[in-house]
Amino acid sequence: MNTAPGALQIWDVEKSVSKDNAPGVGEDDGALFTERQPHGDTPYDVEAIRADFPILHRLVRGRALVYLDTAASAQKPAQVIEAERSFYAEDYANIHRGLYFLSQRASERYEDARRKVAAFLNARHEHEIVFTRSATEAINLVAASFGEAYLKEGDEVLITGLEHHANIVPWQMLREKKGIVLKVAPINNAGEVPLEDFSRLLGPRTRLAAFAQVSNALGTVLPVAEMTRAAHAAGAKVLIDGTQSVVHMGIDVRALDCDFFVFSGHKLYGPTGIGVLYGKEALLDAMPPYQGGGDMIASVTFDKTTFAPLPAKFEAGTPAIAQAVALGAAIDYLTDLGLGRIGAHEASLLGYATQRLSAIKLLTIVGTAAHKASVLSFILDGVHPHDIAHVLDSRGVAVRAGHHCAQPVMARFGVAATTRASFGLYNTSAEVDALAEALERVEAVFVR
Ligand code: ALA
Repeated sequence: MNTAPGALQIWDVEKSVSKDNAPGVGEDDGALFTERQPHGDTPYDVEAIRADFPILHRLVRGRALVYLDTAASAQKPAQVIEAERSFYAEDYANIHRGLYFLSQRASERYEDARRKVAAFLNARHEHEIVFTRSATEAINLVAASFGEAYLKEGDEVLITGLEHHANIVPWQMLREKKGIVLKVAPINNAGEVPLEDFSRLLGPRTRLAAFAQVSNALGTVLPVAEMTRAAHAAGAKVLIDGTQSVVHMGIDVRALDCDFFVFSGHKLYGPTGIGVLYGKEALLDAMPPYQGGGDMIASVTFDKTTFAPLPAKFEAGTPAIAQAVALGAAIDYLTDLGLGRIGAHEASLLGYATQRLSAIKLLTIVGTAAHKASVLSFILDGVHPHDIAHVLDSRGVAVRAGHHCAQPVMARFGVAATTRASFGLYNTSAEVDALAEALERVEAVFVR
């Protein structure tokens, strides 16, 4: 094997890595990011946008669908559906293997998708983008590869109290294997992670800080730039879980200077079965492979295997080729519409929904951070969230009810579950009204 786990002193490359990725370094820094926000936050015609989403026009239980579960998975525009269909119909073959036309064409389209992701995140290099099965797999990849190679017994990983299970369990599994210490920055009553509490838990043994940019259960937007700076000052690497944030705001991994950034395709109006790991080149280079198999090798004999360079080293086996192509189409769609406008549209819906739902007497919003994105979690005194979701469903309103894969968040607020409405680029204030009216109905039926 040509990678000796732990052989490279990654802690010593930190300075050069940080310098290499510092904002403002190099003439092209930020250029892609700026181009990606051509419309600022000017409003768009949401009805015209809705026309792009075929599923939004179907009836559910005889009523118009009111889809308020975009935080769980976003619906897909026709452009994404068509990209996947036409790829299978016209360009499909396995990639990186065939010398024939279709294989080369499919390889080009797969790599073109990687370029789109790199530009979307403003990564410095395309090979810093690794396609995975999901954001969950991307975090597991870092825990397995970086964690197993570079973390020792007693080393600390710092997460926060509002993480999704995907950013808790892999570190617990690593704790079982390696004896690392998992520390958790607390959340306050509003559902925020105070920077001073987070910073206090950073110490000489903190090797990695891993945190969400937006909480899927509460909607809290975390001050990830400040958290990254604090973690780096303590000598730790940083992983940002951007699963809930990439859909609402422009991301610039070079400006953030994070070491790893993960997200999933299906929440970004793209297909299921594909996720992304961004990692700084020096770190990904230093890390051992996650899985072994085809496409990730340079040469194999029974005595010795050498590995392919980035990003192939981390993409063993036939990847999600069509899904990558369609993810590229989703990125085009969002880029054309403008993340700034999408964020502004959703912020206005969230503000309106917060006002409408606050007027419901027995309803309490869980998660009242000063800075929130697109998620409204709540409880209604005396009514189980599952009952709420059932009544809403009978009126065509789709919301998620449960612990949202964030049981520690539920425990922090002393509830087993909440009902969660989440808003996407296609939702309207009329849909917020439909939600509020349905909840008033729940209150009338269940609470006498
Ligand atoms: N993580 C997804 C959610 O928040 C499934 O609903």
